[in-house]
Amino acid sequence: MRTAQARLASGDVTTVRLNSTDNAVSFDTDALVVGVHTGPDGPRPAPGAESVDEALGGGLAATLLTMGVKGKQGEIAKLPTFGALSAPLLAVVGLGDAPEGDYDTESLRRAAGTASRALAGTARVALALPAADAQRAGAVAQGALLGAYSFTTYRTTGEQTAPVAELTVLSDADGAQAAVERAATVAASVSLVRDLVNTPPSDLWPARFAEIAEQTGSAAGLSVEVLDDKALKEEGYGGIVAVGQGSANPPRLVRLAYSHPEAAKTVAFVGKGITFDSGGLSLKPTSSMDWMKSDMSGAGAVFGALVAIAKLGLKVNAIGYLCLAENMPSGTAQRPSDVFTSFAGKTVEVLDTDAEGRLVLIDGIARAGQDDPDLIVDVATLTGAQIVALGWRTAGVMANDDELREEVVRTAGEQGEAAWGMPLPEELRKGLDSPVADIANLHPERFGGMLTAGIFLREFVPDGVRWAHIDMAGPAFNKGEPHGYTPKGGTGAITRTLVGLAERYAS
Ligand code: BES
Ligand code: MN
Ligand code: ZN
Repeated sequence: MRTAQARLASGDVTTVRLNSTDNAVSFDTDALVVGVHTGPDGPRPAPGAESVDEALGGGLAATLLTMGVKGKQGEIAKLPTFGALSAPLLAVVGLGDAPEGDYDTESLRRAAGTASRALAGTARVALALPAADAQRAGAVAQGALLGAYSFTTYRTTGEQTAPVAELTVLSDADGAQAAVERAATVAASVSLVRDLVNTPPSDLWPARFAEIAEQTGSAAGLSVEVLDDKALKEEGYGGIVAVGQGSANPPRLVRLAYSHPEAAKTVAFVGKGITFDSGGLSLKPTSSMDWMKSDMSGAGAVFGALVAIAKLGLKVNAIGYLCLAENMPSGTAQRPSDVFTSFAGKTVEVLDTDAEGRLVLIDGIARAGQDDPDLIVDVATLTGAQIVALGWRTAGVMANDDELREEVVRTAGEQGEAAWGMPLPEELRKGLDSPVADIANLHPERFGGMLTAGIFLREFVPDGVRWAHIDMAGPAFNKGEPHGYTPKGGTGAITRTLVGLAERYAS
């Protein structure tokens, strides 16, 4: 059997390096990327495009106007250079209106991603975008790397377009080298997460995910512990066992730990890792099920973030829990109305086996409390209600601490990941009362489903621990067309936010 690990290679396909902006015109590359703004009288070349415009006789704006290029975000045009530049191809990417002050990093990330995606099949690409400081050079590098991602492991027929092999960011900013390296490390983790999400559940079941975490995690310098189904039963992980018991592929709990001698703080991340969510006996309809291989995206993000944190050598202690199970219907599956005892000791009545994410998470959250962390953040593709409330691209953030919630939202924003703070209204707790157990996993009211899920989780957070919950049911998987640096399929969402949080808590 070909192994899934051999297939997890796409993260390393594209390399990135840095070069001075001095010789953009004579730079030896297959395609040069410049930016263009919208303007009242047509498109205007952005900083970085000046020397190119000059080499083209100052006619870039006029040519683009003729071509109907406006300079809007997401727009891309390719022009032959007829020998005016070393690069035979010029790619012009829209940056929207020129900013008053500094360029927004996320706009640069998206523009770079749009360019590298449109240039798939081109071996070498250089980007002369407005990268005036290290942060912006890093954003260009990261966007270009993420846009170059492709997942072709399972394709044997049809036309194969190779992703860009070599990216060069043109920037003279101080500290740009380190920023580009950080961006590349984080992008490699995001690509790893995307690979895991895209891998079909026939090749990624809990034990396999645990094996990959063990191999890739230890190689990155993490210490990795795996609890198998037997250990999970013995140690009282009732939620993970209950969800996993219907599957021929038994559950696992993976603990990834990274520590730094100068660390003052410990962050703990917990990820929902349902390698396939059929709904269990509360079976999903087919149209809701065919993309449920993505239901391990939370565990993917936690895994990817821990790998990046270790590679970056951050001065923080970081612990990650991957709560891995396959949710299947069978003769051994849990039944609606079953009751289990969770790791925290509380009993849970399972009214709907499709509300399984919260059942594995509460065991991970309770276990994380034993590490005495300064905060716990869980990440999950938890509810369809998140998509109803915030759409496909914006994650919901809930917490037992207003400051932590705002900190998570702010960090996500800084990393270019859309997230929005959501409440945990007290009145919703009552609906989770069970006539037989301490709590039920389903609220009789469908409305506010993202919030009731958050309220359920909160009941299992150890006393006195700051906790935040990120519901990314929509953002984790792109069912639509690619955009910016986001491909179809697994997105690797929230990986960058977790790395950003670890950086915040680093000494
Ligand atoms: N994995 C799903 C949530 C989901 C939906 C993720 C769409 C990604 C896209 C989760 O396990 C689930 O089934 N949630 C139920 C909960 C309900 C039964 C309370 C839902 O949202 O319908
Ligand atoms: Mn479910
Ligand atoms: Zn699920």
